[in-house]
Amino acid sequence: MTLQVVPLHKHPEYKEQCCNLINDEWKRSTTARMRSLDSSCDNLPTNLILLKDNNVIGHCKLSTIPSLQNACFVESVVIDKTLRGNGYGKHLMLSAEDYCKRVLKLKCIYLSTKGQEVFYSKLGYNECQPISIYGGCISTVHSYLNNRSKNNENFMKE
Ligand code: ACO
Repeated sequence: MTLQVVPLHKHPEYKEQCCNLINDEWKRSTTARMRSLDSSCDNLPTNLILLKDNNVIGHCKLSTIPSLQNACFVESVVIDKTLRGNGYGKHLMLSAEDYCKRVLKLKCIYLSTKGQEVFYSKLGYNECQPISIYGGCISTVHSYLNNRSKNNENFMKE
């Protein structure tokens, strides 16, 4: 068995599989999802995929935080439903952290979750204050973020 974590934009042949994996967890139109995946690049945002024997079994997205340099926001972390509980999520996150440090030269990772607090605590993430993942933007975006922050727990790891 070979496990590999690679940036999606370096392996566009896996885009459709990646789209299906994410949409299996968070339903969205294929067109919108594919367009979002098209934005993956060497600078942020970057979509990382976990490959097991050349099949996409995991995904996470690294995004910029306009108000914070040397940090990124991790979102849409997902492992194939049939393969959870086997350490693949941990492998994906540790590889993503390595990518953030080694390739992107970042020092800190933030994320927000409702329901997976134990998973991230076990990986060494600490609870933190909500951060704004948007720059100076319109108020509707802020209120959406504020609503989400009220319900979710926010975590960071240096
Ligand atoms: N509750 C408690 N412990 C958990 C949970 C959970 N829900 N999920 C994993 N763990 C623990 C495991 O027991 C394991 O502990 P151990 O190291 O002591 O043995 C450790 O965390 C690592 O578990 P993995 O097997 O690597 O986790 P898995 O491969 O199942 O992936 C994931 C975890 C990604 C959360 C998966 O369950 C999933 O895809 N869930 C649905 C989508 C989701 O909720 N994603 C997170 C959204 S938040 C965000 O994107 C920032």
